[in-house]
Amino acid sequence: MQYSLILAALSAASVTAQKGDWAASAAKASQSLQGLSLQQKAGIVTGTGWMQGPCVGNTGEAQSIGFRSLCLQDGPLGVRYAGSVTAFPPAIQAASTWDVELIKQRAVGMGEEARALGVNVLLGPSAGPLGKIPQGGRNWEGFGADPYLQGVGMYETIVGIQESGVQACAKHYIGNEQEYRRSELSANIDDRTVHEMYLWPFADSVRANVASVMCSYNKLDSVYACENDEYLNQILKTELDFPGFVLSDWGAQHTTDGSAKGGLDMTMPGDNFGDNQFLWGNNLVNAVNSGQVQQSRVDDMVSRILTSWYYTGQDSGFPNVGFNSWNGNGGPNVQGNHKEVARAVARDGIVLLKNTNNALPLNKPESIAIIGSHAFDNPQGPNACVDRGCNTGPLGMGWGSGTVDYPYLIAPYDAIKQQADADGTRVTQADSDNFSHGGTAARAAETAIVFITADSGEEYITVEGNAGDRNNLNAWHTGNELVAAVAEGNQNTIVVVHSVGQILLESFIELDNVVAVVWAGLPGQESGNALVDVLYGKTAPSGKLPYTIGKRAEDHGVSIVRGDDNFSEGLFVDYRHYDKQGIEPRFEFGFGLSYTTFDYSGLTATYSDKSPADNVAAPGGSASLYETVATVTATITNSGDVAAAEVAQLYLGLPSSAPETPAKQLRGFQKVHLEPGQSATVQFPLRRKDLSYWDAQGKNWVIPSGAFAVHVGASSRDIRLTGSMA
Ligand SMILES: *[C@@H]1O[C@H](CO)[C@@H](O)[C@H](O)[C@H]1NC(C)=O
Ligand SMILES: *[C@@H]1O[C@H](CO)[C@@H](O)[C@H](O)[C@H]1NC(C)=O
Repeated sequence: MQYSLILAALSAASVTAQKGDWAASAAKASQSLQGLSLQQKAGIVTGTGWMQGPCVGNTGEAQSIGFRSLCLQDGPLGVRYAGSVTAFPPAIQAASTWDVELIKQRAVGMGEEARALGVNVLLGPSAGPLGKIPQGGRNWEGFGADPYLQGVGMYETIVGIQESGVQACAKHYIGNEQEYRRSELSANIDDRTVHEMYLWPFADSVRANVASVMCSYNKLDSVYACENDEYLNQILKTELDFPGFVLSDWGAQHTTDGSAKGGLDMTMPGDNFGDNQFLWGNNLVNAVNSGQVQQSRVDDMVSRILTSWYYTGQDSGFPNVGFNSWNGNGGPNVQGNHKEVARAVARDGIVLLKNTNNALPLNKPESIAIIGSHAFDNPQGPNACVDRGCNTGPLGMGWGSGTVDYPYLIAPYDAIKQQADADGTRVTQADSDNFSHGGTAARAAETAIVFITADSGEEYITVEGNAGDRNNLNAWHTGNELVAAVAEGNQNTIVVVHSVGQILLESFIELDNVVAVVWAGLPGQESGNALVDVLYGKTAPSGKLPYTIGKRAEDHGVSIVRGDDNFSEGLFVDYRHYDKQGIEPRFEFGFGLSYTTFDYSGLTATYSDKSPADNVAAPGGSASLYETVATVTATITNSGDVAAAEVAQLYLGLPSSAPETPAKQLRGFQKVHLEPGQSATVQFPLRRKDLSYWDAQGKNWVIPSGAFAVHVGASSRDIRLTGSMA
């Protein structure tokens, strides 16, 4: 072998040795650090400025160590501002599938596309907002209003993205529950609520070895999140032992030395959206030279950035940036076959809410009326509005930075029409939201399918008077009146809802003529195809709600806050609140119908390992918190006559020795596909953390003594099996 080949083989071996190994990556990082000047270090931790580079965020480079400018690009459902990428369904739809493998495969697709375009850091997934406020504009970017479900979504998505060597970014850390005054309000969250609710999915993110975490716009206990020693240095970097780097949300840095001391490691986009004012860069160099910021802190920032770079193997063979966000060069087609997973997530995230006398699936109806503007293509195309900032045509995602440009968007009308043509079904249409037209079309057909939506997004765009957050929980475009007019004219009315989150269904949900309600969520590019799969029974619906749909907006107990937010509801968010207050929701968290029925039997609950957790630091917190110590099992049987999947859910109640805790908290779920008559055993492994509460005085997770209530069911209220475990 030639000497140069031996050298190449040796360096390849050392690359493999540090990839996927935090300690080896950190060692390599501290070695590389030796060769960098202070100026180079300041360049690595400082963005080049808004629109100063091909990506939404770009860092300085350090050629001496082979470190190219990093490309940081939105976002949580794919690569923003690229020309030919998959428009995956948003995370809320992935959560709605409750299918761990699908959640992961969606992320694998996103990671592959990001890598192919040379994106070093893909700015997602998002677990903040958690979604405590139904009107919150960005809830759809995350995995629903429960920390456990969010945690599973974050974990699988980070693992999936990072499989391609792309760095994932867990955001927005933390307490960013609404858009209104997001850069001014202080989220004041008590320590127990932090740990059991808002931090929980971030702990899972760190445990999944996420390479980066984005601090949020808001303050926490009156200190900005991006300079918050308690949340960044104490909780994230010490308690959760996070080895990667913290980057600011765009423009969320406020001080030079405060952010450095508070634990920020990278500022983005460098200046504040093009004002050419850099709090770091030369100002950081000056702060070190004047002794305001310690050199060791800057070294730590750079080490963390390099550590994540080595950890994901980006020092070797990572593609160059292949697109430009600003000049119309969208780059190559990187979609591969990802439309398949995009369709599967869109389809399996559909939740069937009402289905009187098996109105669905459709079986070659004689005629169908398709009603409502949102069933039809936007004549201006699916990308007519920048960052999806309008509500015209089919709704596949909300608006803001967490969007991508659609390669195509299959309108519901087009997909249904194709099926109807094959079936010999006559199709009539009303392609506006005008009730008078809708009613006329409805009267002329055997079955009427009416489409309504609700939209939300990020605060820098206002759509129809909604500045990010939704102004109310009603269907947009007088959807309620449209449904009423259609139902008045047709006794087989099917309502399809495309929505960012909960809407109020009370005006029509109990109408006899409304025979079915299909919650199609936010399906991304495969909207129509996914819907037809379910409407026609090619696949039985198997999605479950990742939030509670209430009867009145007030029933949720929280809404957009005008001042600071003390999070006084504590742990009692979404179904925890409904349970505590004894409020009947319309459709509870975890709810979803099928075309078949499932029987639950044979509950077992075994709590075998009573040893307490230790305090050995590891990413995500002590590894012992994540060891299985108890197991619950049950048997699920498909007792109907259609092949289908069921999401069996485990809710735990803590023993009475624990301080006040919600009566039921999600602590496991499993989706099983069953043929008619077939049974399967579902298993819910419980980890120490799943059995614990956070003791704010002792600053520790504590497993309370006594009997745990064990509930296994088809939703948070449709509990089929109850037992206990001590
Ligand atoms: C709805 O359509 C009717 C009949 O074409 C028309 O008279 C009416 O003005 C329309 N309503 C709206 C709000 O456009
Ligand atoms: C939040 O708590 C602070 C301090 O206790 C109090 O002054 C303030 O009024 C509270 N805010 C709200 C909205 O309740």
